[in-house]
Amino acid sequence: MPFAAIPLGPADLPDCLALDQRALKGLWNEEQWRKELEDERRPCLGIRDGQALVALACGWLVADELHITAVAVDPGRRRQGLGGQVLWALLQQAARLGARHATLEVSAANQAAQALYAARGFQTAGVRRAYYRNGDDALIQWLCLHDGKEVRITGQL
Ligand SMILES: CC(C)(COP(=O)(O)OP(=O)(O)OC[C@H]1O[C@@H](n2cnc3c(N)ncnc32)[C@H](O)[C@@H]1OP(=O)(O)O)[C@@H](O)C(=O)NCCC(=O)NCCS
Repeated sequence: MPFAAIPLGPADLPDCLALDQRALKGLWNEEQWRKELEDERRPCLGIRDGQALVALACGWLVADELHITAVAVDPGRRRQGLGGQVLWALLQQAARLGARHATLEVSAANQAAQALYAARGFQTAGVRRAYYRNGDDALIQWLCLHDGKEVRITGQL
């Protein structure tokens, strides 16, 4: 039985900070997380197992694009489908809010995330050389959410 992805808001700030520390080595500080969770143009979704936040996915809606800014799963809960599920839910929400495309950058060294995005239909649209502080390249990922007038991102995984 899959867990349900739920919208995250300001009340989820401490759990987002803690999961960020465990899974993303501190992508954002408290103030940055507050802004993500307060801004309605920055959808954030999460999956809870009981009280524990075990996965999250966030993005920014910019014109008709969703810029995915964070996808994270608790290190102890990976390869259970949670990353794919929360990502899919974010894509669906963005499509409902009018996004026609989704994009993100992923490190050329991050095989797990690349595999996750490829499994969800993303394609590599370009490379930003030495984009990360450690010198790694970023692969620009791109996904079309609509096919003509139809929303392609529908239903269950
Ligand atoms: C990337 C990440 C979110 C994946 O989450 P997850 O819950 O483990 O992913 P899922 O279980 O939904 O995996 C979905 C598919 O992605 C691929 N995948 C995920 N992790 C993988 C790995 N370590 N190696 C190879 N493929 C992997 C597989 O195709 C997998 O399907 P399968 O399990 O049926 O083979 C997780 O590893 C993570 O939080 N990493 C650290 C943060 C990060 O790198 N975020 C992305 C930044 S761009």
